[in-house]
Amino acid sequence: MTRPAGSRLPGFYNLRRGERLRRVARLVKLTEEEQNLIRTRALSNEIADQLIENVIGVYGLPLGIVTNLQLNGRDYLVPMVVEETSVVAAASSAAQLVRAHGSITARAEPPLMTGQIQILDCPDRGRAEAALAASKDRLLELANAQDETLLELGGGARDLVPRWVETGQGTMLVVHLHVDVRDAMGANAVNTMAEALGPLVADLTGGVQGCRIISNLSDRRLVRARMEVELEALGKAGFDGQEVGRRIVAAYAWAEADPYRAATHNKGIMNAVDAILLATGNDWRAVEAGVHAFASRDGRYRSLSRFSMEGDRLVGELELPMALGTVGGLTRLHPKVRILLKVIGAESAGELAEVTAATGLLQNFSALRSLVTEGIQRGHMSLHARNLAILAGARGAQISEVADRMVQEDRVRYRRAQEILETLNGE
Ligand code: MEV
Repeated sequence: MTRPAGSRLPGFYNLRRGERLRRVARLVKLTEEEQNLIRTRALSNEIADQLIENVIGVYGLPLGIVTNLQLNGRDYLVPMVVEETSVVAAASSAAQLVRAHGSITARAEPPLMTGQIQILDCPDRGRAEAALAASKDRLLELANAQDETLLELGGGARDLVPRWVETGQGTMLVVHLHVDVRDAMGANAVNTMAEALGPLVADLTGGVQGCRIISNLSDRRLVRARMEVELEALGKAGFDGQEVGRRIVAAYAWAEADPYRAATHNKGIMNAVDAILLATGNDWRAVEAGVHAFASRDGRYRSLSRFSMEGDRLVGELELPMALGTVGGLTRLHPKVRILLKVIGAESAGELAEVTAATGLLQNFSALRSLVTEGIQRGHMSLHARNLAILAGARGAQISEVADRMVQEDRVRYRRAQEILETLNGE
Protein backbone atom coordinates (compact mmCIF):
# COMPACT_ATOMS: atom_id res chain seq x y z
CA MET A 1 0.00 0.00 0.00
CA THR A 2 1.42 3.43 -0.98
CA ARG A 3 1.11 6.02 1.75
CA PRO A 4 0.66 9.66 0.79
CA ALA A 5 4.05 11.38 0.96
CA GLY A 6 2.33 14.26 2.74
CA SER A 7 -1.21 15.46 3.21
CA ARG A 8 -0.46 19.12 3.92
CA LEU A 9 -1.52 20.64 0.59
CA PRO A 10 -1.78 24.42 0.90
CA GLY A 11 -3.92 25.98 -1.83
CA PHE A 12 -5.39 22.61 -2.88
CA TYR A 13 -8.83 24.21 -2.72
CA ASN A 14 -7.87 26.83 -5.33
CA LEU A 15 -6.51 24.35 -7.89
CA ARG A 16 -8.56 23.28 -10.88
CA ARG A 17 -10.23 19.91 -10.48
CA GLY A 18 -7.88 18.13 -12.88
CA GLU A 19 -4.81 19.55 -11.14
CA ARG A 20 -6.15 18.42 -7.75
CA LEU A 21 -6.45 14.88 -9.06
CA ARG A 22 -2.90 15.03 -10.46
CA ARG A 23 -1.55 16.21 -7.06
CA VAL A 24 -3.29 13.32 -5.31
CA ALA A 25 -2.12 10.91 -8.03
CA ARG A 26 1.51 11.98 -7.59
CA LEU A 27 1.30 11.57 -3.82
CA VAL A 28 -0.24 8.11 -3.79
CA LYS A 29 1.16 6.95 -7.13
CA LEU A 30 -2.06 6.44 -9.07
CA THR A 31 -1.58 5.05 -12.58
CA GLU A 32 -2.99 6.86 -15.63
CA GLU A 33 -5.72 4.23 -15.80
CA GLU A 34 -6.66 4.77 -12.15
CA GLN A 35 -6.79 8.54 -12.69
CA ASN A 36 -9.07 8.01 -15.68
CA LEU A 37 -11.37 5.84 -13.62
CA ILE A 38 -11.65 8.54 -10.96
CA ARG A 39 -12.25 11.21 -13.61
CA THR A 40 -14.79 9.39 -15.67
CA ARG A 41 -16.21 6.07 -14.76
CA ALA A 42 -19.06 5.60 -12.39
CA LEU A 43 -20.35 2.21 -11.40
CA SER A 44 -21.41 0.52 -14.65
CA ASN A 45 -25.05 -0.24 -15.35
CA GLU A 46 -24.07 -3.90 -15.70
CA ILE A 47 -22.61 -4.12 -12.18
CA ALA A 48 -25.47 -2.02 -10.76
CA ASP A 49 -27.86 -4.54 -12.30
CA GLN A 50 -26.11 -7.35 -10.43
CA LEU A 51 -26.12 -5.50 -7.11
CA ILE A 52 -29.80 -4.68 -6.66
CA GLU A 53 -33.17 -5.27 -8.28
CA ASN A 54 -35.19 -3.15 -10.72
CA VAL A 55 -32.16 -1.04 -11.71
CA ILE A 56 -32.87 1.86 -14.06
CA GLY A 57 -29.46 3.56 -13.90
CA VAL A 58 -26.68 4.71 -11.56
CA TYR A 59 -26.47 7.81 -9.38
CA GLY A 60 -23.53 10.19 -8.86
CA LEU A 61 -22.37 12.28 -5.88
CA PRO A 62 -19.38 14.62 -5.42
CA LEU A 63 -16.08 13.01 -4.42
CA GLY A 64 -13.69 15.29 -2.50
CA ILE A 65 -10.43 14.92 -0.58
CA VAL A 66 -9.83 15.97 3.03
CA THR A 67 -6.29 17.30 3.22
CA ASN A 68 -3.91 17.94 6.13
CA LEU A 69 -4.73 14.92 8.28
CA GLN A 70 -1.83 13.67 10.34
CA LEU A 71 -2.98 10.80 12.52
CA ASN A 72 -0.86 8.59 14.77
CA GLY A 73 2.10 10.48 13.28
CA ARG A 74 1.21 9.53 9.67
CA ASP A 75 -0.20 11.57 6.81
CA TYR A 76 -3.49 10.59 5.21
CA LEU A 77 -5.54 11.92 2.31
CA VAL A 78 -9.16 11.10 3.05
CA PRO A 79 -11.74 10.73 0.27
CA MET A 80 -15.32 11.75 1.06
CA VAL A 81 -18.46 11.23 -0.96
CA VAL A 82 -20.96 13.82 0.25
CA GLU A 83 -23.37 16.39 -1.17
CA GLU A 84 -23.30 18.85 1.75
CA THR A 85 -21.27 22.04 1.29
CA SER A 86 -18.49 22.74 3.77
CA VAL A 87 -18.10 19.19 5.16
CA VAL A 88 -14.82 18.58 3.30
CA ALA A 89 -13.60 22.14 3.90
CA ALA A 90 -14.39 22.00 7.65
CA ALA A 91 -12.62 18.66 8.16
CA SER A 92 -9.56 19.85 6.21
CA SER A 93 -9.26 23.11 8.14
CA ALA A 94 -9.69 21.35 11.51
CA ALA A 95 -7.03 18.82 10.45
CA GLN A 96 -4.71 21.71 9.58
CA LEU A 97 -5.30 23.47 12.92
CA VAL A 98 -4.68 20.29 14.93
CA ARG A 99 -1.66 19.39 12.83
CA ALA A 100 -0.10 22.81 13.49
CA HIS A 101 -1.13 23.28 17.14
CA GLY A 102 -1.80 19.84 18.60
CA SER A 103 -2.11 16.20 17.70
CA ILE A 104 -4.63 13.45 17.06
CA THR A 105 -4.42 9.72 17.66
CA ALA A 106 -6.83 6.81 17.21
CA ARG A 107 -6.84 3.13 18.09
CA ALA A 108 -9.23 0.43 16.84
CA GLU A 109 -10.08 -2.69 18.84
CA PRO A 110 -9.67 -6.13 17.22
CA PRO A 111 -12.41 -6.79 14.60
CA LEU A 112 -14.90 -8.79 16.68
CA MET A 113 -18.46 -8.98 15.35
CA THR A 114 -21.46 -10.58 17.03
CA GLY A 115 -23.99 -12.99 15.54
CA GLN A 116 -27.27 -13.55 17.38
CA ILE A 117 -29.21 -16.81 17.54
CA GLN A 118 -32.73 -16.45 18.96
CA ILE A 119 -34.16 -19.52 20.74
CA LEU A 120 -37.82 -19.58 21.74
CA ASP A 121 -39.63 -21.76 24.29
CA CYS A 122 -36.49 -22.89 26.11
CA PRO A 123 -37.83 -25.18 28.89
CA ASP A 124 -34.98 -24.96 31.43
CA ARG A 125 -32.46 -22.12 31.79
CA GLY A 126 -29.90 -24.00 33.87
CA ARG A 127 -29.88 -27.07 31.60
CA ALA A 128 -29.69 -24.92 28.46
CA GLU A 129 -26.68 -23.01 29.77
CA ALA A 130 -24.95 -26.20 30.92
CA ALA A 131 -25.54 -27.87 27.54
CA LEU A 132 -24.14 -24.88 25.67
CA ALA A 133 -21.07 -24.74 27.94
CA ALA A 134 -20.42 -28.48 27.48
CA SER A 135 -20.69 -28.19 23.67
CA LYS A 136 -18.99 -24.85 23.23
CA ASP A 137 -15.89 -26.24 21.48
CA ARG A 138 -18.04 -28.28 19.11
CA LEU A 139 -20.21 -25.26 18.29
CA LEU A 140 -17.17 -23.04 17.65
CA GLU A 141 -15.70 -25.77 15.42
CA LEU A 142 -18.94 -25.97 13.45
CA ALA A 143 -18.93 -22.18 13.06
CA ASN A 144 -15.33 -22.19 11.86
CA ALA A 145 -16.01 -24.98 9.38
CA GLN A 146 -18.20 -22.47 7.48
CA ASP A 147 -15.32 -20.16 6.53
CA GLU A 148 -11.93 -21.71 5.87
CA THR A 149 -10.57 -18.55 4.26
CA LEU A 150 -11.29 -16.52 7.37
CA LEU A 151 -9.50 -19.15 9.44
CA GLU A 152 -6.48 -19.10 7.13
CA LEU A 153 -6.34 -15.31 7.56
CA GLY A 154 -6.19 -15.70 11.34
CA GLY A 155 -9.85 -14.91 12.06
CA GLY A 156 -12.72 -17.15 13.12
CA ALA A 157 -15.32 -17.77 15.83
CA ARG A 158 -13.93 -16.95 19.28
CA ASP A 159 -16.68 -17.26 21.85
CA LEU A 160 -20.28 -18.24 22.48
CA VAL A 161 -22.25 -16.46 25.21
CA PRO A 162 -25.89 -17.13 26.23
CA ARG A 163 -28.10 -14.16 27.18
CA TRP A 164 -31.67 -14.14 28.49
CA VAL A 165 -33.84 -11.36 27.13
CA GLU A 166 -37.16 -10.36 28.69
CA THR A 167 -39.61 -9.49 25.91
CA GLY A 168 -43.31 -8.83 25.44
CA GLN A 169 -43.54 -12.49 24.37
CA GLY A 170 -41.76 -13.92 27.41
CA THR A 171 -38.12 -14.72 28.14
CA MET A 172 -36.00 -15.67 25.16
CA LEU A 173 -32.59 -17.24 24.96
CA VAL A 174 -30.30 -15.22 22.68
CA VAL A 175 -26.93 -16.82 22.03
CA HIS A 176 -24.13 -14.47 21.00
CA LEU A 177 -21.44 -15.79 18.70
CA HIS A 178 -18.33 -13.57 18.66
CA VAL A 179 -16.29 -13.78 15.47
CA ASP A 180 -12.98 -12.20 14.52
CA VAL A 181 -13.72 -11.11 10.93
CA ARG A 182 -10.26 -9.64 10.17
CA ASP A 183 -10.49 -7.00 7.40
CA ALA A 184 -14.08 -7.75 6.35
CA MET A 185 -17.17 -5.94 7.58
CA GLY A 186 -18.20 -9.45 8.51
CA ALA A 187 -21.94 -9.70 7.84
CA ASN A 188 -21.61 -12.60 5.40
CA ALA A 189 -19.26 -14.66 7.56
CA VAL A 190 -21.23 -14.06 10.76
CA ASN A 191 -24.66 -14.67 9.21
CA THR A 192 -23.47 -17.91 7.63
CA MET A 193 -22.06 -19.12 10.95
CA ALA A 194 -25.16 -18.10 12.93
CA GLU A 195 -27.43 -19.89 10.46
CA ALA A 196 -25.27 -23.03 10.60
CA LEU A 197 -25.33 -23.10 14.42
CA GLY A 198 -29.05 -22.42 14.88
CA PRO A 199 -30.41 -25.99 14.63
CA LEU A 200 -27.73 -27.43 16.93
CA VAL A 201 -28.21 -24.67 19.51
CA ALA A 202 -31.97 -25.32 19.46
CA ASP A 203 -31.36 -29.05 19.83
CA LEU A 204 -28.93 -28.65 22.74
CA THR A 205 -31.15 -26.21 24.64
CA GLY A 206 -34.46 -27.94 23.95
CA GLY A 207 -35.89 -24.75 22.43
CA VAL A 208 -37.12 -23.63 19.03
CA GLN A 209 -34.86 -21.87 16.60
CA GLY A 210 -35.89 -18.28 15.70
CA CYS A 211 -33.87 -15.59 13.85
CA ARG A 212 -30.14 -15.89 13.21
CA ILE A 213 -28.47 -12.66 12.20
CA ILE A 214 -25.53 -10.32 12.86
CA SER A 215 -25.98 -7.55 15.45
CA ASN A 216 -25.16 -4.09 14.11
CA LEU A 217 -24.45 -2.93 17.65
CA SER A 218 -20.84 -3.98 17.18
CA ASP A 219 -19.68 -2.84 20.61
CA ARG A 220 -16.74 -5.26 20.58
CA ARG A 221 -15.31 -3.45 17.59
CA LEU A 222 -14.92 0.03 19.01
CA VAL A 223 -12.56 2.70 17.81
CA ARG A 224 -11.32 5.56 20.00
CA ALA A 225 -9.90 8.85 18.77
CA ARG A 226 -8.31 11.58 20.89
CA MET A 227 -7.24 15.06 19.82
CA GLU A 228 -5.67 17.90 21.69
CA VAL A 229 -5.08 21.43 20.52
CA GLU A 230 -3.63 24.57 22.11
CA LEU A 231 -6.41 26.81 23.39
CA GLU A 232 -4.48 29.83 22.14
CA ALA A 233 -4.93 28.64 18.55
CA LEU A 234 -8.74 28.42 18.79
CA GLY A 235 -9.60 32.13 18.62
CA LYS A 236 -12.22 32.94 16.00
CA ALA A 237 -14.57 35.79 15.02
CA GLY A 238 -13.49 38.05 17.89
CA PHE A 239 -13.58 35.31 20.57
CA ASP A 240 -10.24 34.45 22.18
CA GLY A 241 -9.04 30.85 22.34
CA GLN A 242 -9.83 30.35 26.06
CA GLU A 243 -13.40 31.49 25.50
CA VAL A 244 -13.81 29.27 22.43
CA GLY A 245 -12.51 26.29 24.44
CA ARG A 246 -14.87 27.04 27.31
CA ARG A 247 -17.81 27.34 24.91
CA ILE A 248 -16.94 24.09 23.13
CA VAL A 249 -16.93 22.27 26.47
CA ALA A 250 -20.32 23.82 27.27
CA ALA A 251 -21.65 22.75 23.84
CA TYR A 252 -20.53 19.19 24.59
CA ALA A 253 -22.14 19.28 28.05
CA TRP A 254 -25.40 20.33 26.42
CA ALA A 255 -25.26 17.44 23.90
CA GLU A 256 -24.48 15.00 26.71
CA ALA A 257 -27.57 16.12 28.64
CA ASP A 258 -30.13 16.76 25.91
CA PRO A 259 -31.05 14.15 23.25
CA TYR A 260 -32.46 16.86 20.97
CA ARG A 261 -29.03 18.44 20.80
CA ALA A 262 -27.14 15.10 20.93
CA ALA A 263 -28.83 14.00 17.68
CA THR A 264 -27.49 17.06 15.84
CA HIS A 265 -24.10 16.94 17.57
CA ASN A 266 -23.70 13.29 16.52
CA LYS A 267 -24.96 14.08 13.02
CA GLY A 268 -21.97 16.41 12.74
CA ILE A 269 -19.69 13.43 13.49
CA MET A 270 -21.53 11.21 11.02
CA ASN A 271 -21.12 13.86 8.28
CA ALA A 272 -17.51 12.68 8.05
CA VAL A 273 -18.05 9.03 8.95
CA ASP A 274 -20.78 8.39 6.35
CA ALA A 275 -18.90 10.29 3.64
CA ILE A 276 -15.82 8.11 4.16
CA LEU A 277 -17.92 4.94 4.36
CA LEU A 278 -19.54 5.80 1.02
CA ALA A 279 -16.18 6.53 -0.61
CA THR A 280 -14.78 3.23 0.61
CA GLY A 281 -17.81 1.12 -0.37
CA ASN A 282 -18.88 0.36 3.18
CA ASP A 283 -22.33 -0.33 4.61
CA TRP A 284 -23.11 3.06 6.19
CA ARG A 285 -26.57 1.95 7.33
CA ALA A 286 -24.97 -0.73 9.50
CA VAL A 287 -22.53 1.73 11.04
CA GLU A 288 -25.26 4.38 11.53
CA ALA A 289 -27.50 1.82 13.28
CA GLY A 290 -24.66 0.66 15.52
CA VAL A 291 -23.46 4.14 16.38
CA HIS A 292 -26.88 5.42 17.49
CA ALA A 293 -27.64 2.27 19.49
CA PHE A 294 -24.24 2.74 21.16
CA ALA A 295 -25.04 6.41 21.88
CA SER A 296 -28.10 5.23 23.86
CA ARG A 297 -26.43 2.33 25.66
CA ASP A 298 -27.26 3.57 29.17
CA GLY A 299 -30.92 4.13 28.26
CA ARG A 300 -30.54 7.72 27.17
CA TYR A 301 -29.28 9.06 23.84
CA ARG A 302 -26.02 10.96 24.44
CA SER A 303 -23.09 12.64 22.73
CA LEU A 304 -20.61 10.23 21.16
CA SER A 305 -17.75 12.64 21.80
CA ARG A 306 -16.43 14.40 24.91
CA PHE A 307 -14.59 17.72 25.22
CA SER A 308 -12.63 19.04 28.20
CA MET A 309 -9.92 21.57 28.99
CA GLU A 310 -6.61 20.23 30.28
CA GLY A 311 -4.16 22.99 31.17
CA ASP A 312 -3.59 25.09 28.08
CA ARG A 313 -5.26 22.56 25.77
CA LEU A 314 -8.68 21.55 24.56
CA VAL A 315 -9.01 17.76 24.54
CA GLY A 316 -11.59 15.96 22.37
CA GLU A 317 -12.36 12.24 22.55
CA LEU A 318 -14.62 10.05 20.48
CA GLU A 319 -15.60 6.43 20.98
CA LEU A 320 -17.87 4.57 18.57
CA PRO A 321 -18.46 1.12 17.06
CA MET A 322 -16.98 0.90 13.58
CA ALA A 323 -17.79 -2.23 11.58
CA LEU A 324 -16.18 -1.62 8.24
CA GLY A 325 -14.19 -3.63 5.75
CA THR A 326 -11.38 -3.18 3.26
CA VAL A 327 -12.13 -6.49 1.55
CA GLY A 328 -15.31 -8.06 0.17
CA GLY A 329 -18.56 -6.36 -0.81
CA LEU A 330 -18.27 -3.29 -3.04
CA THR A 331 -14.47 -3.15 -2.61
CA ARG A 332 -14.16 -5.63 -5.49
CA LEU A 333 -17.09 -4.49 -7.58
CA HIS A 334 -17.00 -0.70 -7.63
CA PRO A 335 -14.23 0.61 -9.89
CA LYS A 336 -13.51 3.63 -7.70
CA VAL A 337 -13.55 2.03 -4.27
CA ARG A 338 -10.31 0.09 -4.76
CA ILE A 339 -8.56 3.28 -5.93
CA LEU A 340 -9.94 5.34 -3.06
CA LEU A 341 -8.73 2.75 -0.56
CA LYS A 342 -5.32 3.20 -2.18
CA VAL A 343 -5.64 6.99 -1.73
CA ILE A 344 -6.23 6.53 2.02
CA GLY A 345 -3.44 3.96 2.20
CA ALA A 346 -4.98 2.06 5.13
CA GLU A 347 -3.50 -1.41 5.41
CA SER A 348 -6.37 -2.92 7.42
CA ALA A 349 -10.00 -2.36 8.29
CA GLY A 350 -8.78 -1.28 11.74
CA GLU A 351 -6.58 1.43 10.25
CA LEU A 352 -9.49 2.60 8.06
CA ALA A 353 -11.67 2.74 11.19
CA GLU A 354 -9.01 4.88 12.92
CA VAL A 355 -8.89 7.34 10.00
CA THR A 356 -12.70 7.46 9.91
CA ALA A 357 -13.10 8.08 13.64
CA ALA A 358 -10.35 10.71 13.70
CA THR A 359 -11.94 12.57 10.80
CA GLY A 360 -15.34 12.32 12.55
CA LEU A 361 -13.86 13.91 15.68
CA LEU A 362 -12.25 16.71 13.65
CA GLN A 363 -15.55 17.31 11.84
CA ASN A 364 -17.36 17.56 15.18
CA PHE A 365 -14.72 19.91 16.62
CA SER A 366 -14.91 22.12 13.54
CA ALA A 367 -18.72 22.36 13.68
CA LEU A 368 -18.64 23.21 17.40
CA ARG A 369 -15.94 25.86 16.91
CA SER A 370 -18.13 27.57 14.32
CA LEU A 371 -21.34 27.13 16.31
CA VAL A 372 -19.88 28.69 19.48
CA THR A 373 -18.45 31.69 17.59
CA GLU A 374 -19.85 33.05 14.34
CA GLY A 375 -22.49 30.32 13.80
CA ILE A 376 -22.42 27.91 10.89
CA GLN A 377 -24.51 29.89 8.43
CA ARG A 378 -21.74 32.31 7.51
CA GLY A 379 -19.43 29.60 6.16
CA HIS A 380 -22.35 27.68 4.72
CA MET A 381 -23.70 30.77 3.00
CA SER A 382 -20.61 31.47 0.92
CA LEU A 383 -20.52 27.85 -0.24
CA HIS A 384 -24.29 27.81 -0.73
CA ALA A 385 -23.91 30.99 -2.80
CA ARG A 386 -21.47 29.15 -5.09
CA ASN A 387 -23.98 26.33 -5.52
CA LEU A 388 -26.73 28.81 -6.41
CA ALA A 389 -24.41 30.55 -8.88
CA ILE A 390 -23.74 27.20 -10.61
CA LEU A 391 -27.45 26.38 -10.62
CA ALA A 392 -28.18 29.74 -12.22
CA GLY A 393 -25.73 28.88 -14.99
CA ALA A 394 -22.44 30.53 -13.88
CA ARG A 395 -19.28 28.76 -15.04
CA GLY A 396 -15.54 29.25 -14.38
CA ALA A 397 -14.60 32.64 -12.89
CA GLN A 398 -18.24 33.76 -12.96
CA ILE A 399 -19.05 31.37 -10.09
CA SER A 400 -16.95 33.32 -7.57
CA GLU A 401 -18.05 36.65 -9.01
CA VAL A 402 -21.75 35.87 -8.64
CA ALA A 403 -21.32 34.19 -5.24
CA ASP A 404 -19.12 36.94 -3.75
CA ARG A 405 -21.53 39.64 -4.82
CA MET A 406 -24.53 37.82 -3.26
CA VAL A 407 -22.61 37.36 0.03
CA GLN A 408 -21.52 41.03 0.09
CA GLU A 409 -25.10 42.12 -0.49
CA ASP A 410 -26.35 39.56 2.04
CA ARG A 411 -28.88 38.38 -0.58
CA VAL A 412 -27.99 34.74 -1.20
CA ARG A 413 -30.90 33.66 -3.41
CA TYR A 414 -31.35 31.82 -6.68
CA ARG A 415 -33.24 34.74 -8.26
CA ARG A 416 -30.44 37.15 -7.31
CA ALA A 417 -27.83 34.79 -8.77
CA GLN A 418 -29.75 34.84 -12.05
CA GLU A 419 -29.95 38.65 -12.05
CA ILE A 420 -26.22 39.09 -11.39
CA LEU A 421 -25.40 36.55 -14.06
CA GLU A 422 -27.64 38.30 -16.59
CA THR A 423 -25.84 41.57 -15.84
CA LEU A 424 -22.42 39.93 -16.19
CA ASN A 425 -23.38 38.27 -19.46
CA GLY A 426 -24.83 41.52 -20.79
CA GLU A 427 -21.61 43.40 -19.98
C1 MEV B 1 -24.67 20.11 9.91
O1 MEV B 1 -24.61 19.18 8.86
C2 MEV B 1 -23.96 19.59 11.15
C3 MEV B 1 -24.09 20.47 12.38
O2 MEV B 1 -25.49 20.73 12.63
C4 MEV B 1 -23.48 19.72 13.53
C5 MEV B 1 -23.70 20.35 14.89
O3 MEV B 1 -24.68 21.08 15.07
O4 MEV B 1 -22.87 20.09 15.78
C6 MEV B 1 -23.45 21.81 12.18
